[in-house]
This record gives sequence, structure tokens and C-alpha cells, in this order.
Amino acid sequence: MKSNIILIGFMGSGKTTIAKQLAYELDKTFTDFDDIIQHNTNMTISEIFGTKGESFFRLKEDDLAREMSGRSNLVMATGGGIVLAQENMEFLSENGIIIFLKCSFDTVVQRIKTSDTRPLFSPDNLSEFEDLFHSREILYNHFADFTIEVDKKEIRKIVTEIKEKVQNKT
Ligand code: S3P
Repeated sequence: MKSNIILIGFMGSGKTTIAKQLAYELDKTFTDFDDIIQHNTNMTISEIFGTKGESFFRLKEDDLAREMSGRSNLVMATGGGIVLAQENMEFLSENGIIIFLKCSFDTVVQRIKTSDTRPLFSPDNLSEFEDLFHSREILYNHFADFTIEVDKKEIRKIVTEIKEKVQNKT
């Protein structure tokens, strides 16, 4: 039986918040990919993108996906770009259920418009950001074992829905 739960979805879909609560309720270990990468590099995500480039960040993300797939009993909040490498998802799904937190583009923008921690987002280039959102959605749909709609739902409800989906599967 698979013991990990992996949350995927676009920036601002609530992966970190939901993963924390889910881990607590299921007595599993909360794991946040961006936090670990920041800790390991001693840089913020924006600094990594700015000084080392996105490709360096993706390598770190790929390494982490491989490493975490070898662990058990984790609830993982992945970065929104984890699905860019098919190999990441193959590794992670070996011992994990993949849950897509599906969010509308409007909700995403509302949530992250004042954030300066997401180098791929710029309020001046919303149409490009929307293209990214749609192209990513195809990947999230492709890799997800289950999809949970998160728009206008309380955390409590989202966590309960995920628990119902993964019951007997972890
Ligand atoms: C990214 C999402 C971010 C972070 C980085 C790149 C992406 O994580 O990993 O800025 O490519 O979608 P969140 O999804 O937690 O914001």
C-alpha cells in the first residue's frame, strides 16, 4: 500500500496549507518542497531563480522528488512545477497517491497578487501567466490520481474530501 500523499497544483492552490493539516490529521510527516530547497541552498526561491536560474531550481526539485519518493508516511506539498518532469511523477507515484488541488485562475491571482515570493508571477503579465496556468492544468490532470476542487471551500472540507479519497489506498 502506498504511504505518501502528494499534493500537486498551481501556485496559490493551497498545497502547503492543506498538506500541513492533512499530515496532522493522518499522523504523517508534512514535507514542503520549496522549503527544503530554500533550506538546502540557503536562498529564497526568488534568489535562486534570479541568480542561478530556473533550470538550477528544476534540478534541485528533481533531486528532491527522487529522494522523497524513497521515504514513507509523508504528506508532500510540491512546487507547482513538479509536473514538468515526467520522471518526478513516476518516482513520486511509486509510493504515493497524487492529488490535484484544482483552483480557478481568478482565485490564484487573488491569492498571489501581492506575493513577492513567486518569481514566475508578475501582475504586469497576466495573459502569459494565464497561458502557464492552462498549460499546467493539462499536466496536473494527466498525473493526478484524484482531483479536488478547492475554490471557495474551507480547509476543513478540502481535507475531509482528500481523506475520503485516500482511505484504503494509503
Ligand atoms: C513554481 C511554483 C512555486 C515554486 C517556484 C516555481 C512553478 O511553488 O516552486 O516559484 O513553477 O509553478 P508554489 O506552487 O508552492 O507556489
